[in-house]
Amino acid sequence: METPRPRRSCLAVPGSSLKMLDKARGLAADQVFLDLEDAVAPLAKPEARGNVVAALNEGSWDGKTRVVRVNDVTTPWAYRDVIEVVEGAGANLDCVMLPKVQSAEHVAWLDLTLTQIETAVGLPVGRIGIEAQIENARGLVNVDDIAAASPRLETIIFGPADFMASLNMRSLTVGALHPDYPGDPYHYILMRILVAARTRDLQAIDGPYLQIRDVDGFREVARRSAALGFDGKWVLHPGQIDAANATYAPAQADYDRAEQILDSYRHATSDAGGRVGAVMLGDEMIDEASRKMALVIAAKGRAAGLSRTPTVSP
Ligand code: GLV
Ligand code: MG
Repeated sequence: METPRPRRSCLAVPGSSLKMLDKARGLAADQVFLDLEDAVAPLAKPEARGNVVAALNEGSWDGKTRVVRVNDVTTPWAYRDVIEVVEGAGANLDCVMLPKVQSAEHVAWLDLTLTQIETAVGLPVGRIGIEAQIENARGLVNVDDIAAASPRLETIIFGPADFMASLNMRSLTVGALHPDYPGDPYHYILMRILVAARTRDLQAIDGPYLQIRDVDGFREVARRSAALGFDGKWVLHPGQIDAANATYAPAQADYDRAEQILDSYRHATSDAGGRVGAVMLGDEMIDEASRKMALVIAAKGRAAGLSRTPTVSP
């Protein structure tokens, strides 16, 4: 995809709650995902499918990326989730999120099923994207193959709660550091997912922070994955949205600096600037690699709607 969709904040909305489905429309999240999986009790799942279809088809989602999380392929619900949602609301759906992906075959199944439904109901084939959640050890071991499994893939998502259970991690607080471990217990997993995603030009998304009243705690966890390069994080409550939007956008000063590096380097390498490949910008030496780093920050800033501070000139 040329310009990736903004996904700084990805709001989870239980498909069983009409109230929350309705409220989500007016919130400032970049993405909403209407959940049929773990936020919906087994007995409520069939009805939730109908709620989700109606919510997608009725009313506006105001430019948000519209996603439905179906149940994973090992459950009795997965195929019917995909069929009912895509047949019922495929034209108003941007991506299907597949949880607990463990191998490339899981993604291939969803890709083929989407193609069959699109063909049957006359939707453009291949428009609906896939988001894959990595939530256990096997999924992480296979993450490179998973990231390469379909041209529909847009994101690889870390699912920390299921992952902690899968590893037998001795903690119940999702995303928090552990007092007995001197580093960040999630660092390897996050980095592994990030590298696999970037190998295929996919976005990397951090999962939920369950202490929804602790916005400072959310911010602290989000800052860690944002620092690595993650594009966004799940939000479970409206109170987490502003923190996510701010954390996954560059700071204004970094954005200004990035645009300044791009301008200065463009000038330095031009005829007018003397065709120089390495120049000083203030106290910093910049070269082609600096330009590449600046492009990343500038693109994230532009996607987040930042504009350049007028006092900063090349
Ligand atoms: C999300 O699905 C998680 O398990 O953290
Ligand atoms: Mg999960």
